[in-house]
Amino acid sequence: MPGVSLNGALRRVPPGAVYLLGLLPLAWIVWLTLSGGIGVDPVKGIEHRLGKVALWFLVGGLAITPLRRITGLNLLRYRRAVGLLGFGYVAAHLLAWVVLDMGFLWAQAAADLVKRPYLLLGITGFALLVPLALTSNTASVRRLGRNWRRLHWLVYPAVSLGVLHYLMQMKVISSEGWIWAAVLAGLLGVRLVLRFRGRLGVLWADAG
Ligand code: HEM
Repeated sequence: MPGVSLNGALRRVPPGAVYLLGLLPLAWIVWLTLSGGIGVDPVKGIEHRLGKVALWFLVGGLAITPLRRITGLNLLRYRRAVGLLGFGYVAAHLLAWVVLDMGFLWAQAAADLVKRPYLLLGITGFALLVPLALTSNTASVRRLGRNWRRLHWLVYPAVSLGVLHYLMQMKVISSEGWIWAAVLAGLLGVRLVLRFRGRLGVLWADAG
């Protein structure tokens, strides 16, 4: 397997390093804002960049298990950091909308939600991520036992809603949008195949 040789080197990289690296996009967005390089519409510039970084982390998090199964590259111990970074960027993206775009005007925010239904998909995706972020600590993993896995299955609908929200906010879906949709569909497909094969394996073992 091509990824296995990298596993030894990765053993020396602590998950904390991923959190630090994950803050670089935020530092970059802050820098662009302060230096005036964020674009003609700074609010949109900030909002869009935060949403895009969130997508990278959330979809990246979904890729960790298939990557291990297919290439042998084991990034499992970074999955919590990647997921929490994704959640953090979605929260910052939502905050940018509430504070910078809507200026805390709740009636305006409600009107915006009615006018742009894809925002509701984004909010639902975010809401599904909240219990996952809250139970991502080791104590919750122990306390919830088998239910932890069941609960964390929600990451699939949550990220799918995030991608759908991203596609729907485009007037015409760009080639980049199609790529994100294809990557998500591929990851969900691989996950289904792995699960199906696992079930078949159990059936065969039972029959044997
Ligand atoms: C899983 C959750 C979410 C993900 C992955 C996500 C991701 C994205 C992405 C990638 C974009 C487009 C960026 C670009 O074109 O460069 C976007 C746009 C946007 N998102 Fe989200 N988002 C999520 C949730 C939310 C939530 C909760 C809100 C707040 C209501 C929100 C508000 C917006 C807005 C206002 C835009 C810009 C739309 C426009 O310019 O017309 N998103 N989002």
